[in-house]
Amino acid sequence: MSNCAVILAGGQGKRMKSNKPKALCEVLFKPMIDWTIDAARSAKVDDICVVTGHLHEMLEEHLAGETKTVFQAERLGTGHAVMQAVKFIEEFRGGNTLILNGDCPLMDAETIRGALAYHEKLDNAVTVISAEVENPFGYGRIIRDAGGFLSEIVEEKDASVKQREIKEVNSGAYWFKTDVLLEALSKITNKNKQHEYYLTDCIEIAIKAGLRTSAFAAENSDVVLGANDRIQLLDLNDKLRYKFLQEQMLEGVDIPCSEGIIIGPDVVIGQDTRILPGTVLLGDTKIGKNCVIGPNSYLTDCVVGSDVVLDNVVAEQSKIGSGCDLGPFVHLRPGSKIGKEVHIGNFVEIKNSTIDDGTKVSHLTYVGDSDLGKNINMGCGCVTVNFDGQKKHRTVIGDGTFIGCNTNLISPVKLGKFAYTAAGSTIYEDVPDYTLAIARSRQENKVGWVKDKNKIRNME
Ligand code: UD1
Ligand code: MG
Repeated sequence: MSNCAVILAGGQGKRMKSNKPKALCEVLFKPMIDWTIDAARSAKVDDICVVTGHLHEMLEEHLAGETKTVFQAERLGTGHAVMQAVKFIEEFRGGNTLILNGDCPLMDAETIRGALAYHEKLDNAVTVISAEVENPFGYGRIIRDAGGFLSEIVEEKDASVKQREIKEVNSGAYWFKTDVLLEALSKITNKNKQHEYYLTDCIEIAIKAGLRTSAFAAENSDVVLGANDRIQLLDLNDKLRYKFLQEQMLEGVDIPCSEGIIIGPDVVIGQDTRILPGTVLLGDTKIGKNCVIGPNSYLTDCVVGSDVVLDNVVAEQSKIGSGCDLGPFVHLRPGSKIGKEVHIGNFVEIKNSTIDDGTKVSHLTYVGDSDLGKNINMGCGCVTVNFDGQKKHRTVIGDGTFIGCNTNLISPVKLGKFAYTAAGSTIYEDVPDYTLAIARSRQENKVGWVKDKNKIRNME
């Protein structure tokens, strides 16, 4: 008696001009099919079968282990697409089947759940999710009888001039009683202007059989929106982008100007944190309170504490403790763990390293595969030389140590606590605690050398 979902994703999407199937075209960096699957899952429909077609191998590979798939060898219409999944659907007899379009990523769990509650309350055979839209062109129109009951769905190409004026359209999402769907699928034909097997004909069949069907008008009409080309894709991106920005603002996040800001759906941000233009926050990123993130910061799967400033920072899979100040122009590569009140300044790259509380790495420095203690000062232009051409090695620096400008630390190497390296040193041996290491050649001054004969250039 459990419910299932079939998602239609066989279409090519010619107008996308892409070498991917349409369902893999992305909205906010996530394939359209994944938005649809997530909506079904959030509505507690876990058994999902995706109908693939054009470039099916790519879609199958993408969905491997996620959902079932069936291959539709020829695209003969939405009804024909669902027919390919009959074997899957048969396992759910007695329950309800949700049908979704794989290219309508704004369909949401709320609407799906609302439609199911309505479907069950009215004991409907079929519930069509509809919406009123400004421009109904291209959609199937919802035709209601004199009593306001659903009588049929007419496709744009088959509609009369009068029917085309109707603004209530079919979203392409439906709840069917599974047994009714299976029965109706066996009866549909391709006798229409497009010679396609229309899934919408199943509704007419159910109505003619005297079964109860109705349209559930979605509160949020954006759920019907699909994309046939990149311009419509941009429109979907803008809609979703703004929706997530609004959600953040309602939670107390400060966005004084939304230009170029993208915040993914799973990102959590604390109150009074300010996000500045050009900032993209994706994946499982979490940010604390009272931070300033941006301008132009790009974070993926990062955990950031409170009172942090990130100015032009690119960071992936990294942690940044409270009170840190990073930027401008800092790159944290995966596996970087930055403690509290750390300052990382201009043009610094950190990779797979831990940097403990209070340390400063202020300018033009590379820290890779290293463990830096507390309150260290790394001078300008330092490099941890972590790669010997074959293997990566670690650099360890103790608390309170001062690394002079332009120091090379040839790893594996360990510096103790409260040590010093002289500027310009190339350190390749461990430095004990409280020790100054000088590893550079002594300076020799050749007094008067320039004035020697034959050496004078452009001098009075
Ligand atoms: C369909 C509906 C229309 C509705 C609209 C909403 C029908 C007959 N019409 O029209 O009433 O307003 O969706 O977006 O159902 N697909 C396959 N195999 C096929 C054909 C389509 O997998 O043979 C997939 C497509 O990839 C797409 C979905 O089904 O994801 C919808 O197909 P599409 O051709 O876009 O249908 P519409 O003409 O838009
Ligand atoms: Mg369509």
